[in-house]
Amino acid sequence: MIKLRPVRSDADYEAWRDVRSAVEPNERGLTVAELRELAKPERLLLLAELDGDVVGSGLSDRSDVAGRAFVVPRVRPAARRQGVGSRLLAELADHAADQGYDVAGSFVEDEGSLAFARRHGFVETGRQVEQVRSIGAEPWPDAPASYQVVSVAERPELWAQAYEQVALPTLPDLDVPGTLEVSAEEWATEWINDPAAMFVAVAGDDVIGVAGLMLDTDRPERAEVAYTAVRREWRGKAVASTLKRTSMAWAAEHGITEIYTWTQQGNDDMRRLNEHLGFRYGAVAVNVRATLPLELAEEVRA
Ligand SMILES: CC(C)(COP(=O)(O)OP(=O)(O)OC[C@H]1O[C@@H](n2cnc3c(N)ncnc32)[C@H](O)[C@@H]1OP(=O)(O)O)[C@@H](O)C(=O)NCCC(=O)NCCS
Repeated sequence: MIKLRPVRSDADYEAWRDVRSAVEPNERGLTVAELRELAKPERLLLLAELDGDVVGSGLSDRSDVAGRAFVVPRVRPAARRQGVGSRLLAELADHAADQGYDVAGSFVEDEGSLAFARRHGFVETGRQVEQVRSIGAEPWPDAPASYQVVSVAERPELWAQAYEQVALPTLPDLDVPGTLEVSAEEWATEWINDPAAMFVAVAGDDVIGVAGLMLDTDRPERAEVAYTAVRREWRGKAVASTLKRTSMAWAAEHGITEIYTWTQQGNDDMRRLNEHLGFRYGAVAVNVRATLPLELAEEVRA
């Protein structure tokens, strides 16, 4: 028997995290404290039990893409093809529709999940490629002549400034369907997790670029590359590669052996920059989108 319930206790949050890391073992996950901080009525975290065991989890929330919901059901590989994913998706999509959304986005990383998504009315909207870089002996780059590189730990006030001067003008350049909407508060809390591992390039009084790492408490030897961006007028001057080399040197000094990043397949500049820095290709994720409410068979909602 399948039973769904919302996440409430710390044990529920841990169970939710366990499913997520079983399904996406190579992706950085949030801690229980970070997940609790994000709690709000619009955001639904679900657990799915099959005959009393937690086998699945789900998330429904606002998407970073303006005007859209984000939904993702996840089921442990051993418990698939028994209807759990469909039950989760139905409840997640209903929740998003109740919040007033008429479109939901998600992503899948394997053929079976793509078949599942298509079966439930999702269509492909784009692809992202994973790029992975082993960290060895990484030299610190030479200090640039026309700007300075500092960590956000050294100059914490620059992170809010980076939102205005780098995030807002560069987010529209990302090759995503729709407009990315990131608030100043989200920038301050969700786009950085350790100020010592986040670097900004400063020219005079202006922040002209950002890059760094999002650390993973579950797997400290592996970090995700954070948002990398350079103001348009400073592009083509090696600012991004200097910032990235700085994060790689920091990684090497802090016991990190691998860093990874997801890049939109159409973002040739970023993919080439990463190739140039020695990243190799990993997994591929397919972005999908469906109109809400989902048209699901009656038995799925039962
Ligand atoms: C996608 C996922 C949630 C499906 O969970 P599940 O419990 O196996 O899904 P269901 O049993 O409800 O599958 C419903 C239908 O989807 C289709 N489907 C699901 N998995 C499939 C697969 N591997 N190959 C082909 N079709 C598949 C089938 O039509 C299936 O019905 P059937 O079993 O009667 O043929 C699970 O594979 C998963 O966790 N994937 C990783 C995370 C993810 O990509 N989530 C989807 C985001 S939209």
